Amino acid sequence: MFKKTDKTFAFETEILNKGAYIDLLASNPETAPIYLTTAFNVEDLDDLQDRYAVKGFCYNRNRNPNRSALIELITHLEKGENSIVCSSGMAAISTAILSLVQQGDHILSDQTLYGESIDLFSKVLSNYGVDVSYVDFTNIEAIHAAIKPNTKVFYTETVSNPMISVVDLDAVAKIAHDHHAIFVVDNTFMTAFGVRPLEHGADLVVNSLTKFANGHSDAVAGSVTGSEALIQKAYNLQVLIGSTADAFTSWLVQRGMRTMSLRVQKQMDNAAILAKALDESPYVVKVFHPSLPTHPQHELSKRLFKKGFGGMISMELPNDKEKINAFMRKLNLAHYAMTLGGYRTSLAHPVSSSHYDIPEEERVKMGITYGLMRISVGIEDSEDLVTDFMEALKVFA
Ligand SMILES: Cc1ncc(COP(=O)(O)O)c(C=O)c1O
Repeated sequence: MFKKTDKTFAFETEILNKGAYIDLLASNPETAPIYLTTAFNVEDLDDLQDRYAVKGFCYNRNRNPNRSALIELITHLEKGENSIVCSSGMAAISTAILSLVQQGDHILSDQTLYGESIDLFSKVLSNYGVDVSYVDFTNIEAIHAAIKPNTKVFYTETVSNPMISVVDLDAVAKIAHDHHAIFVVDNTFMTAFGVRPLEHGADLVVNSLTKFANGHSDAVAGSVTGSEALIQKAYNLQVLIGSTADAFTSWLVQRGMRTMSLRVQKQMDNAAILAKALDESPYVVKVFHPSLPTHPQHELSKRLFKKGFGGMISMELPNDKEKINAFMRKLNLAHYAMTLGGYRTSLAHPVSSSHYDIPEEERVKMGITYGLMRISVGIEDSEDLVTDFMEALKVFA
């Protein structure tokens, strides 16, 4: 019942309505309630028009208070004007890109991306007449050489998955804008705590909130943040394709994000400690983490990242499946998980997961060898973590 009434009705009617109207003041609870409702009742047609005028709540696919709360939070953290919140990181990437391109357009992308972003570009957008080229975005000349007259979007990850290379966002933004293209950056690995791509010239920043942002490995969501004009276009499309995040997920993610700065700082600090220890291990072929002075973009990373060098490490192990399996079984703390950014340290094998579908020749060109393991560093005690890795690595002796 959307209004208070003393009238009585039949059992079948009352079972639908009684208790549905809250008449005591219930505003400002300590934590936000979860609005599990498809729609919001209105009094009459004037009330409906008033809701439209203020972009109020009418139907869940358009707007929901939990999603709006998360939109406000991520918009503020990424320093944008507005955002959309989506049902996954991939939903955010798809919605953002589809709102920007049309048949005949060209996307210029970094060559080492999350595998499914590559699949979206190469296997889906190609069916709609959108052309994509991949180049190494750490190579400015290569970017210049790959620009076409119809290049509409430049796309990169702040820290690439899984090679942990770092893109000079300001330099790429300038090239994109000189060519009247939109620069889209996936900030999943660094989060807004680590760097805010919009402050370095990006036009849109996308995040898989599933990862470090939420940090508890219990919700899948994504966001797109940018100017009012670009977000309005993405929102208009989102309402039609229905890529919105549901209320419960939005609520979980905003709860997780309340502790993002504490978690991500610890993850970054632990990652730098672990990267150094792995780098000194005789059993590890190569370690990729921007904190290491040997990392090709170490100096750039110091300029871009004020809080730390991110919680993601990749390491190349000897190309020996049996020993890699023994190493994984011997670890007590880091465990295999096809996700990242959670509070516990996890491992992934890009060749068997995120880059499973990428042809071997292309994979190797990106540096993704069979022995490459990606580590998402958690908030454990750093000594426990290092000791656990060092003990397990002895299987390669
Ligand atoms: C860098 C990056 N972007 C986007 C995604 C996709 O996120 P989701 O799984 O939330 O769709 C992932 C997933 O691992 C990722 O690593």
